[in-house]
Amino acid sequence: MFAVNKLTKRFGANTACDHVSFSVAAPKMIGIIGRSGAGKSTLLRMLNRLTDATSGEVMHDGRDILTLKGAEKRAWQSTCAMIFQQFNLVPRMDVVSNVLHGTLSRRSTLATLFNLYPSSDIEQAIAILDRLGIADHAPKRAEALSGGQQQRVAIARALMQDPQIILADEPIASLDPMNAQVVMEALRRIHEEDGRMVIANLHTLDTARRYCDRVIGMRDGRIVFDGTPEQLTTGVARDIYGADASFSEEATSTSLEALERSEAAARAIREAEAAV
Ligand SMILES: Nc1ncnc2c1ncn2[C@@H]1O[C@H](COP(=O)(O)OP(=O)(O)O)[C@@H](O)[C@H]1O
Ligand SMILES: [Mg+2]
Repeated sequence: MFAVNKLTKRFGANTACDHVSFSVAAPKMIGIIGRSGAGKSTLLRMLNRLTDATSGEVMHDGRDILTLKGAEKRAWQSTCAMIFQQFNLVPRMDVVSNVLHGTLSRRSTLATLFNLYPSSDIEQAIAILDRLGIADHAPKRAEALSGGQQQRVAIARALMQDPQIILADEPIASLDPMNAQVVMEALRRIHEEDGRMVIANLHTLDTARRYCDRVIGMRDGRIVFDGTPEQLTTGVARDIYGADASFSEEATSTSLEALERSEAAARAIREAEAAV
C-alpha cells in the first residue's frame, strides 16, 4: 500500500533522515519513537510533501509521490492529512469553520473568500465533531477550547478530507495525560472503524506500546527498530534512545521503569507457572 525507499533529507552537513526504508502492506497504526532530533518530524514532513526529500522515493498506488506537482501534489496532501503538536487551528475562528478549512483544496477561491460552504459540508463537519464528542463546541472560537478539544478539532479537519492516511506529529505532546488519552483513543478508533492508516510520532514509549500495532524506532536519522510493541523490550528501547542524557527525560524514563516492572512481572508469572 505504501513503500518508503532510502528516503534521505540533508540540511547542509546534517543528515536528518538517512536512507529510511519501510513498507506497509495494510492500514496499520504505526508509532515512530526516538529522542529529539532523531528525524521523526522530517520523515513525516517528507511523506506529506511539506518538505522536499534530498533523495529516495515514496511509492503509493504504483507511483512515486515525491515526483508529484501542482494539483496532484495537493491531492496527495489530502490523501495523507497531517495533524500537529500545536493543533495549527485559526484561534479566533469558530470550530466549524476550522473543520471546513479541511475542504479548502476542493473549493473555488471565491467561495473561500466569502466563507461560502455548501450546507452538506457543514452537516458533515458537525457529524465528524459529534463523532469526536465535541459537537457542542461547534459555534465557539477555537481558542476557547481546551488543548484536548482543539486537537480533536484538528483531527476533525483532517477527517473532512477523507484521508487514507493520517500523519500525526507528536499529537499529544502538549496535552495533560487525560486529554492525551482521549486524543490517542480517537486516533485509534478512526484507524479501527474507518480502516485509515495512522502514522504518529510519539514522545513516550508507553503510548506507542499501548496504541500502536507497529513501532518504528529512529536514532540519528536511521531506523534502528521496526517491530511489534511486544518486540520493543527495555534493551531495544535503551538502544533507540541511547543510554545517556535523554534517558533521564522524565517521560521516557518513567515509561522505561514501567516497562521494566511489567517485564519483571511477566517473568515472575512465567516462573510461577513453570513451578506448578
Ligand atoms: N528546517 C531545518 N533546517 C535545518 N535543520 C533542520 C531543519 N529541520 C530539522 N532539522 C534538523 O534535522 C534533524 C532532525 O530533526 P527533526 O526531524 O525535527 O527530529 P525530531 O522530530 O525527531 O525531533 C535535527 O538535527 C534538526 O536540527
Ligand atoms: Mg519532531
